[in-house]
Amino acid sequence: MARTRVGIVGAGPAGLLLSYLLHAEGIDAVVLEARDREYVEQRVRAGVCEHPTVELLRDLGLAGRLDAEGLPHHGFSLRFDGTDHRIALTELTGKSITVYGQQEIVKDLLAAHDAKGLPVEFEVSDVELHGLDTDRPRIGYRDRDGVARELDCDVVAGCDGFHGISRPSIPIDRRTIFDRSYPFAWLGVLARTPPSHEELIYTHHERGFALHSMRTPEITRLYLQVAGNERIEDWSDDRIWTELQLRLATDAEFELREGPMLDKGITPMRSFVTEPMRYGRLFLAGDAAHIVPPTGAKGMNLAVADVRVLSRALTELLLHNRSELAESYSDTCLRRVWRAEHFSWYMTSMLHVDPAADEFGRRLQLSQLRYTASSAAAATSLAENYVGLPFT
Ligand code: APR
Ligand code: PHB
Repeated sequence: MARTRVGIVGAGPAGLLLSYLLHAEGIDAVVLEARDREYVEQRVRAGVCEHPTVELLRDLGLAGRLDAEGLPHHGFSLRFDGTDHRIALTELTGKSITVYGQQEIVKDLLAAHDAKGLPVEFEVSDVELHGLDTDRPRIGYRDRDGVARELDCDVVAGCDGFHGISRPSIPIDRRTIFDRSYPFAWLGVLARTPPSHEELIYTHHERGFALHSMRTPEITRLYLQVAGNERIEDWSDDRIWTELQLRLATDAEFELREGPMLDKGITPMRSFVTEPMRYGRLFLAGDAAHIVPPTGAKGMNLAVADVRVLSRALTELLLHNRSELAESYSDTCLRRVWRAEHFSWYMTSMLHVDPAADEFGRRLQLSQLRYTASSAAAATSLAENYVGLPFT
């Protein structure tokens, strides 16, 4: 049986950053990933890095390409009533965000693993967790050749996303779930065309929410609110552009640039938290423990915040035999998680069209948008959450 100190399930941002942080402390870890490397590197996800995320990656020497190719943003627009209302992030908070695709961070983390020879095993299957309530947990799995393997660990980190096996490995009577689904989804497209505006535009329109974002000076990222049960096959490129043009139209000069679509897909929207984020020697991090609707762009940033706390807790536990930080891991993370849950729910409710809302609800929503756009206090509250609250 192979042995490591920390067995990490999942090579998303959470698993890879945790592995990197632990090795930097001299703690052995092995990452086990179900998909192949190309899939993990190419998967299109959100692309907003909070200020604290960028600072952490810089401190670790992982931000070379992010600093060279990422796009710093000092504000974004709320577009409603056909008009733009700028939220001046940097003026209001002194901080900015960086637009840089999540899969680029995954590529950078994998390159850092290659450079240091840190172990990541792709295409594993049948992953099972055993002995989580002992101090010698084991991970059973099949390697890419189908050979049954076991990894003997001190700790297991469940970084395997929302559909992973780690969370369901916790006995049902030892976890509580908090869940909210939304009656809509996001249709996201990547288009080969320069962004139509230098900043992100979050649009509230009677036909539904739309978002103008970007990846590079040549690639635009766009999203449309669609019904929860829509199928991507029913959305031709033409239909998507027509709908985007309608929702993003303004009174002022603005032209939405069209171009060939490189990727399109539908993402369901959900808020979800499991408590606590730990069971015995299993620690959950990232999407395995919580998900947020993408409106506030918090998903990856929360995963980064979790593993920052976890790497410190595990360093104390495994190198110094002190368990206080491991004991408080879940509570520490959940404070930030619930702030982000609230913020993501708030951005989502403010900007989308709820098909079940009545006229009273619609008036409240418009009032909230107008208040946010006109009050420095309300805009600052939005901005400080958006750029990311400081790590504690
Ligand atoms: N065994 C091994 N690996 C698994 C298993 C399994 N049983 N199940 C899932 N995985 C892998 C997935 O293939 C994926 O690569 O775990 C990884 C989880 O990565 P992410 O889903 O990226 O989750 P996380 O690292 O927590 O990052 C959170 O991802 O979903 C986005 O928007 C979200 O930005 C957020 C970020
Ligand atoms: C993105 O560019 O993918 C993006 C930007 C902002 C969001 C969500 C996603 O709120």
